[in-house]
Amino acid sequence: MEKKVILSGMRPTGRLHVGHYVGALENWIALQNDYRNYHLIADYHVLTTNLDTSSIYQDSLEMLIDWLAAGLDPEKSPMFRQSQVKEHCELQLIFSMLITVNRLERNPTLKDQIRDLEIENLVYGHLGYPVLQSADILLYKGQVVPVGEDQVPHIEITRELARRFNHTYGQVFPEPEPLLTKTPRLIGLDGNAKMSKSLGNTIFLSDTKEEIKLKLRKAVTDTQKLRKGDPGRPEVCVVFSYHQKFNPDEVLEISRDCSTGKLGCVDCKLKCTGKIDSFLKPIYEKRKELETNNALLIEILNDGETKARGIAGDTMAQVRDAMKIG
Ligand code: TRP
Repeated sequence: MEKKVILSGMRPTGRLHVGHYVGALENWIALQNDYRNYHLIADYHVLTTNLDTSSIYQDSLEMLIDWLAAGLDPEKSPMFRQSQVKEHCELQLIFSMLITVNRLERNPTLKDQIRDLEIENLVYGHLGYPVLQSADILLYKGQVVPVGEDQVPHIEITRELARRFNHTYGQVFPEPEPLLTKTPRLIGLDGNAKMSKSLGNTIFLSDTKEEIKLKLRKAVTDTQKLRKGDPGRPEVCVVFSYHQKFNPDEVLEISRDCSTGKLGCVDCKLKCTGKIDSFLKPIYEKRKELETNNALLIEILNDGETKARGIAGDTMAQVRDAMKIG
C-alpha cells in the first residue's frame, strides 16, 4: 500500500527546546519510516509576529541543526524553507478567497496569541496565518500533520479549505488529520502550562549539563514542601513531570520517596538533571558536529527545496487546471 504523506513544520525562532521535542519533533522522527515526510521551515510565518528579518536565515539553520541532531533523516524527510518555494504564496492567495474574515477571527490560537503577545493592531497576514499554513500542508497533499495541540484549530481550517476548494472546483486535495504526541506539551520550568522561549522557562536541546542543573535548581516544585523531611505532592511538581518523561523507570520510587519526605528536592533535581543530560547528550554531540559543517546544511536545504518545488509545482498545475485558469 502506498505510504501516506506527512507534512509538518515549525517557525524558525532560534534554538529548539525540549518542549518542541516532546510536542512534535519526537513524533516526526518516530514516523519517518512509515510515511512519506516533508518538513517545512516556516520562515514567512515568522513575519506575522516579527518584522525584523535580520536573523531569519541564521535561525532557520539553527533549527535545521536541531532537527538533524535529534534524528530527522534528510533522505527520508526532505527539509526546506517556505520562502524558497513560491507556490506557497500562490496557493495562499487562492485559499484566501475561500474563507471568511469572520471564520479566521474565531480561531482560538489567534485569540491566545493576541492575549499573550498583547497585540493591539492585528496585521492582515497574521489573521491569515492559518491560510498560509493550509497552503503549506495541501501543496504536498499532506494527509497527516503531527503537531502540538495548539495547532489543531489550524488543521481544522485546513480541512475546511480543502473541502471548499474541492467542492467549488473539483477534487484536488485530501482532508488532513492532526496527529498528537503522547505527551502533547511539557510544563515550563516556572510552572507555566507551556514551555516557551518568550516566557524564558525552557530547557534547550543545546543546553549543557551545567546549564540544565542551574535551570532545574530554580524550577518550581511543591510550594508546600519546604525542607527535605516534608512530604511532597509529586502531582503538582514540575520536576516530577520531567521525571515522568525522561526517567520513566524511576517514577514510582520517586513518587513514593517524595510523598514520604525521604527524597528532598535538591537530590530529586540532581537526579533529573542527570537523566535529561543523558537524554540530550547524543543530540548535543551531533549538534556540535553539524555546527561546523555549513556546506552540508546548505546541501540538505538545496536538495529539500528542489524536491519541494517539484511537488508544489505539480499541485499548482492541478489547481490551475481545476480552476480552468490555464
Ligand atoms: N504554525 C506552526 C507552528 O507555529 C508552524 C507551521 C507552519 C506548520 N506551517 C505548517 C505546522 C504546516 C504544520 C504544518 O508551530
